[in-house]
Amino acid sequence: MKYPFYLEIIYILIIKYVFNCILCFVLNITNINKKIFQVYRIVLYMDTVIVFDFGSQLAHLIARRVRDLGVYSEIVPYNITREKLEVLQPIGIIFSGGPSSVYEQNAPKPNDSVWEYIRENQIPLLGLCYGHHLIAQKYGGLVEAREEKEFGKAILSLSRNDLIFSDLSHNETVWMSHGDQVVKLPPGFEVFGSTETCPIAAMGDPVQNIFTFQFHAEVHHTENGSKMFQNFLFNICHASQSWKVEHWIEKSVKEIRSVVQDKSVILGLSGGVDSSVVSILLKKAIQDQVHLIFVNNGLLRKNEVEQVCEWFRDRLHFSNFHLVDASDLFLERLNKVTDPEQKRKIIGHTFIEVFEKKARELEEKYPNVEFLAQGTIYPDRVESQAGTGGKSSSKIKSHHNLTLPENMKLKIIEPLRDLYKDEVRKLGQELGLPSELIQRHPFPGPGLAVRCIGDITKEKLDILREADAIVIEEIKKAGLYNQIWQAFAVYLPVKSVGVMGDFRTFENICAVRIVESIDAMTANFAKIDWNVLERISSRIINEVRGFNRVVYDISNKPPSTIEFE
Ligand code: XMP
Repeated sequence: MKYPFYLEIIYILIIKYVFNCILCFVLNITNINKKIFQVYRIVLYMDTVIVFDFGSQLAHLIARRVRDLGVYSEIVPYNITREKLEVLQPIGIIFSGGPSSVYEQNAPKPNDSVWEYIRENQIPLLGLCYGHHLIAQKYGGLVEAREEKEFGKAILSLSRNDLIFSDLSHNETVWMSHGDQVVKLPPGFEVFGSTETCPIAAMGDPVQNIFTFQFHAEVHHTENGSKMFQNFLFNICHASQSWKVEHWIEKSVKEIRSVVQDKSVILGLSGGVDSSVVSILLKKAIQDQVHLIFVNNGLLRKNEVEQVCEWFRDRLHFSNFHLVDASDLFLERLNKVTDPEQKRKIIGHTFIEVFEKKARELEEKYPNVEFLAQGTIYPDRVESQAGTGGKSSSKIKSHHNLTLPENMKLKIIEPLRDLYKDEVRKLGQELGLPSELIQRHPFPGPGLAVRCIGDITKEKLDILREADAIVIEEIKKAGLYNQIWQAFAVYLPVKSVGVMGDFRTFENICAVRIVESIDAMTANFAKIDWNVLERISSRIINEVRGFNRVVYDISNKPPSTIEFE
């Protein structure tokens, strides 16, 4: 009898699933052949490539490169235990660079049991800079200090361009930054490439699947660095491109459920992308066990309070949404304060105070509140030097830079701690957040306070809000909003003369700042169409009482910053 096509497919899937379960169980309990198990994981789970961090500022860039190629990557401290590494089941390992020298007494080195694990399972290994030295030393080569540190671009001449260097030309531009170099190859290794000053700039042992580079393939100055990672991942590790946001959601939801169980979680909502994505992820995992606290500090943009309430309460149906209007308190405390750092401190402390009060109220009302969730993302952790030790940071997100009071016993959860901003945005999209929310420009924690120069009053803030709304509206109308990093207005308390109709005016200046950036570490002022700037300027002067002059900020970061204070 012939079955319909779709029934055959379902039948095959069921058989495959049952077979998967049995095979997985057998391989796991008997531990007979981990290699087969590893290969089999490609079909069953997400392939993971682990980056060992030896103190390099660039370790996160390596993980970034790998994830960009569709393979999941995690950074672990160099001294991770074998047991923890085994849980991760890496299909490939990358050793980062680092500031140490391998021959120093306390140089960071992996545990012996980890080396054994790598050897026993023949896990492909890629070493970069310090990682290159470490592998050379471990496998019987020799590393020595150079007289001078080599820093900058170099030409790598390849003697083999198969395997790790396949599809690359004989001369490749690479980026060097080192004081030591490998001067003798380990037995079984061969030179893959050299530069003018570094005879062993790339080496490898194809039998053991170990490859190492003196240069930093992760920085964009190494022009074909991405191709080298691609070769490592797909030619050497045989990785599958299984890093997809949907997998991450599934994994994270399970984790949240198993940690939180029947307890409740408080989340401070800022209306920005990160905390919004955490909120929706928590909702998916634990539904109404999440309480959102949204503090109106009086320093938000035009209509922001109403918009956030509408999004979260009405559109996304959070039943435990708590709006705390503390605007008077914030403005009272900021009265006559002109120093930018002082402003930030007052705002940070007041925020903690208000947030804590509300959280305590909720703790009393809902005794099962046990967790505080935060929208910390990977770059926040790197910036706040939280390291990669896998411990939760006990700080309220970097912009507040304040530790929660000790006696507040909420446990911290940070579901986005390993993700980059663009991954968070993808996640938000997948979880169905409104696109206006996902694409929103960053907004500083201290809000308009750092854009209202000098002392802050409600009147000045209202004027600034109007001008800011015009900037955003015109930028959106011109179709530029998603192409730029930030666009906003700034209140400059400098009076200048103007003329309106028959009247002479003597009013303040509005500065317009529009910048392009990738990560806010550097930024360029956006060279947008003069006509758009003209529309912004004339609308602000005509529609906002309080400004009679508009200037455009044409400074880059560095040396200027994006915000004015
Ligand atoms: P700067 O002014 O330092 O800003 O060039 C870089 C980026 O950070 C944002 N920014 C802040 N974000 N709390 C925040 O959450 C803050 O205190 C803060 N200060 C600046 C700024 O908007 C820009 O995107």
